[in-house]
Amino acid sequence: MSLKGKRIGVAFTGSFCTYEKAFLELKKLAEEGSVIQTIFSSASSGMDSRFGKANDFLAAAEEITGKKPILTIPDAEPIGPGKLLDILVIFPCTGNTLAKLANGITDSPVLMAAKAHLRNNRPLLLSLSTNDALGMNMKNIGLLMNTKNIYFIPFGQDDPQNKPNSMISHSELLLPALEASLEGRQLQPVLLAK
Ligand SMILES: Cc1cc2nc3c(=O)[nH]c(=O)nc-3n(C[C@H](O)[C@H](O)[C@H](O)COP(=O)(O)O)c2cc1C
Repeated sequence: MSLKGKRIGVAFTGSFCTYEKAFLELKKLAEEGSVIQTIFSSASSGMDSRFGKANDFLAAAEEITGKKPILTIPDAEPIGPGKLLDILVIFPCTGNTLAKLANGITDSPVLMAAKAHLRNNRPLLLSLSTNDALGMNMKNIGLLMNTKNIYFIPFGQDDPQNKPNSMISHSELLLPALEASLEGRQLQPVLLAK
């Protein structure tokens, strides 16, 4: 399936260490001719960290996509009634956002976008990146894997010796995972060593 012309939401949450790779993939997606709307969680649009300044990431997103990022819950809400997206990917998805999504909490622009989009019975793709994936969030991953219209970019343990509960997605599989999810398929194998 071609991603050309597909309306793709790319939602950033506060896993800042993955942004460098995420922006490389965002560029590839733009080169495919997709119509991209980025959405930033309040943490991702409001926090500077050692991985970069929030305003620089917002500017890069606008430059790559040609559109201003969505930064508020009211601006994310029309995604539902307007059926604005063919697919939404949370890229990267923090443990915080994952846990809230699994429990029906909608208190950030990204979670609002996810809720609004899912009401249209369309695919939501998650790109896991959290130190508690095999710990506190394992039950939430299981719950979301069994939820209609939710898919995962294949993921694995990134540092089993030093961070035994940590798992992270293969961000380089964004394009094939989007294609599979648009066809209603989970890209396999979903568990893939890093
Ligand atoms: C430098 C830095 C790196 C972080 N990396 C991660 C991460 O990789 N995964 C994660 O789940 N949380 C990470 N966090 C914590 C989240 O940013 C924090 O839980 C935040 O509340 C997430 O909000 P959001 O899910 O709405 O974006 C990091 C925080 C900081 C300051």
